[in-house]
Amino acid sequence: MPEHVTMNRLPRIIFGNNSSEMIARICETARLKRVMVVCDGALITADVVGRMLTQMQESGLIASVLDHVIPDPPSSLVDEYAQLARDHEADSVVGIGGGSSLDIAKGVAVLLRNGGGISDYAGVDTVPHQAASLILVPTTAGSGSEVTNVAVYSDDRGNKFGVVTPHHIAEIAVLDPLLTTGLPPEQTAFTGLDALAHALESYVGKYNSFLTEPYALQAIEYVARYLPRAYEDGSDLAAREHLLRASLLAGISFTNTQTGGAHACALALGIAAKLPHGKAVTLMLPEVVRFNGPAAEEKFARIGRLLSLDTGKLSADRAAESVAAAIEHLAAKLNVELGLHRYGVTRDHVSTIAELAFGNERIWKNNPREPALEDVEMIISRSL
Ligand SMILES: [Fe+2]
Repeated sequence: MPEHVTMNRLPRIIFGNNSSEMIARICETARLKRVMVVCDGALITADVVGRMLTQMQESGLIASVLDHVIPDPPSSLVDEYAQLARDHEADSVVGIGGGSSLDIAKGVAVLLRNGGGISDYAGVDTVPHQAASLILVPTTAGSGSEVTNVAVYSDDRGNKFGVVTPHHIAEIAVLDPLLTTGLPPEQTAFTGLDALAHALESYVGKYNSFLTEPYALQAIEYVARYLPRAYEDGSDLAAREHLLRASLLAGISFTNTQTGGAHACALALGIAAKLPHGKAVTLMLPEVVRFNGPAAEEKFARIGRLLSLDTGKLSADRAAESVAAAIEHLAAKLNVELGLHRYGVTRDHVSTIAELAFGNERIWKNNPREPALEDVEMIISRSL
């Protein structure tokens, strides 16, 4: 744990079934007048989201709806949407959807108050002014973006960049488990495993503290217990609710610590091999756990117990191995085929991906074991 620990401000969190039905009232209480809605077009026809938009429309709150959402949002799209928001004289932004919708909403809110293009604010603490009022409503249980201080975009050449600032932390996060019931099994698996990685990497990381640890540990337990259930039966409401709790808690934890090696490698894989985030994180996590084992033995033993492994009988140095194997077992249960080679990554790509991943110093800073470039190459090679 570092000498000083901090906890970023959190949004006001409203969690529970049907909480999204309060959206018009929530906007009015927050004194929003002209709301720009960013919502994945595919969701608009869904009952619950449709009802939410109708309510806002009837309350005269909606300035316009932006419904063309692209994964790894291009900065040009965010800039264009911000201009539309200005044209419609929007004073606030509501983001409804998966991590990409929420990140676009963050970007539009930043540009409404700060001007310029979103790529001007790449990096840490480069946004000078508070973003416009922002309400985030996740429809997947994974990114935790509704409570984090980070958003990820891609530039004209497809390279990803992050904007990290307290100024785009949402004012309010509305989490309605009913919104997540329509998520197909494959997306349920990858978003849930991404949430697991957020919690695990936050907990074993150097910046873990008594302020973040309880959130991360609870999130790990929830994913282990409820992800297979939600995958098997998407309408299992208890499972959906606990997964949404998990992604929220993992988000609260990692926004205060950073993630770790699996995310550094996954971001590189997103750039070099165009692998979607959740999939890339899942494919990298077991080998990153094995690499980190010697630096966080006790913590891996504790994670093992949360994953219902009998780590009490294991020597500490075997705990990370058993956690890595348990993650592989969980992935198999969710029909996720591990091995980067299945997704077009070959030995020829290893050094490029490793260099990109190794260069992400902001993330490695939290990783429990400091790698050399050759270590990152080894982790990626073993994940092939
Ligand atoms: Fe992630």
